[in-house]
Amino acid sequence: MLLLVCSGFSYAQKKATVESLKQAFEGKFYIGTALNLNQIWERDPAADKLIKSQFNSIVAENSMKSMHLQPQEGKFNFKDADKFVAYGEANNMFLIGHTLIWHSQAPSWFFKNEKGEEVSKEVLIERMRNHITAVVSRYKGRIKGWDVVNEAILDDGSWRKSKFYNIIGEEFIELAFKFAHAADPDAELYYNDYSMALEGRRNSVVKMIKNLKSKGIKISAIGMQGHLSLDFPKVEEFEKSILAFAAEGVKVMITEMDITVLPMPNRNIGAQVESNFAYKKEMNPYEDGLPKDKQTIFEKRYLDFFKLFLKHEDKISRVTVWGVTDADSWRNNWPMPGRTDYALLFDRQYNAKPVVKQIYRFGSSKKKP
Ligand code: G3I
Repeated sequence: MLLLVCSGFSYAQKKATVESLKQAFEGKFYIGTALNLNQIWERDPAADKLIKSQFNSIVAENSMKSMHLQPQEGKFNFKDADKFVAYGEANNMFLIGHTLIWHSQAPSWFFKNEKGEEVSKEVLIERMRNHITAVVSRYKGRIKGWDVVNEAILDDGSWRKSKFYNIIGEEFIELAFKFAHAADPDAELYYNDYSMALEGRRNSVVKMIKNLKSKGIKISAIGMQGHLSLDFPKVEEFEKSILAFAAEGVKVMITEMDITVLPMPNRNIGAQVESNFAYKKEMNPYEDGLPKDKQTIFEKRYLDFFKLFLKHEDKISRVTVWGVTDADSWRNNWPMPGRTDYALLFDRQYNAKPVVKQIYRFGSSKKKP
C-alpha cells in the first residue's frame, strides 16, 4: 500500500470514499457542532446540509442556557430547545444539553428575592433543584449528555467567585450533579471548562472528580472546551490534561473547539465571556482574507490537535466544534465586536477548508478492529 506523508504524519492512502467528518471518525468518537437559532429552525439551507452530512452530535450554542429556558421564575420557554431536540432526533444525532449551571447567562432573578436582596443558600439550592429537574426531566432519555456545571474554576485552580459559589459554597457542584442524576439516571453528566490545559485548572478538575467519585456522585466525562489560538496552548499541555482526567476514570470530550487566528488584546482572558474591548481596526487584520502563511499555520494546528484526539481515541468520546462556518463563530465578536475571524472548519461560503479533507483521510486511516 502506498504511504503518503501529510503534515508530519503518515496515513495509508485509501480510495476517496470518505466524504464527511462523521464517516472519518465512525467507531472512534462522535463529531459534533453547535447550532445557532437559524440552524435550529432550519432557516439556513446551506448550513443545514453541512450539519446533516458532516456531524452526528449537536449542542445548542445558546438556546438552552438558563436565561433563555427560565427567563422568569417558574415560567419556562422550551420552544427553541424543543425544536433543537426534534432536529437532533430526526437526524439520529447524539444530543448534548448546554448548560445547566453557569455563572454567565443566568437570569438575574435566580439570585434575588422579591425585595431585590440576595437569596439565602437554601433558596438558591431550591432554585437550582427546580431548574435542573424541570429541564433534565423534560428531555429524559432524549438528551444523552449534560454540561451540568460550566466554568466554575479559574486559571490558577481557585474557585470562580460566582453567585453560586458565594452563596452556596463549593457544594453547589455536587448538588448540581445529584439533581441532574435524579432527573435522568441514564444521562451522561459532564463538567465543562475552558483553558483546561493550564496546570492550575487541570489539578483542580482532577480534585473535583476525585471528590465527586468519593461521594458516589456520578460524573461521566470532562468537557475540555478547546477554544484555542495559533500558539496557545501547547499540544503537550493539552495532552497532559486528557491523560490526567482519563486517569480518574472518566471520559474526555472536546466540547467547543475553535482556533482563532486573530490577535488578543490581552493574553490572559481564556474564553472569559465577560471580557469586552472596544473595536480597533489594527486588531482586525484579515478583513479581506487570511494570508497564506497564517492559513498554513492554522491548518497545521487543526491537524496537530486532531492527531492528538486520534491518538487518545480510547479516552475521547466526542469532539465538537463551536459552530458550523466562520460566519457563525462567536470569535468574530469576542472579545472585541465586529472582527473577521477564521476559527472553524468551513468557510463563509460553506466550503470545507483544505484541512478538512486531510482530517477525513487520516481520521479514516486507523479503523478500529
Ligand atoms: O440574539 C441577540 C440579538 O437579538 C441581539 O441583537 C444581539 C446584540 O448583542 O445579541 C444577540 O445575542 C447574543 C448571542 O450570543 C447570540 O448571538 C448575545 O449578545 C451574546 O452574548 C451571545 O454570546 C454567546 C456567549 O456564549 C454568551 O452566552 C455566544 O454566541 C456563544 O458562542 C458563547 O458560548 C460560550 C459557551 O456557552 C460556554 N463556553 C464559552 C463559549 C464562548 O464564549
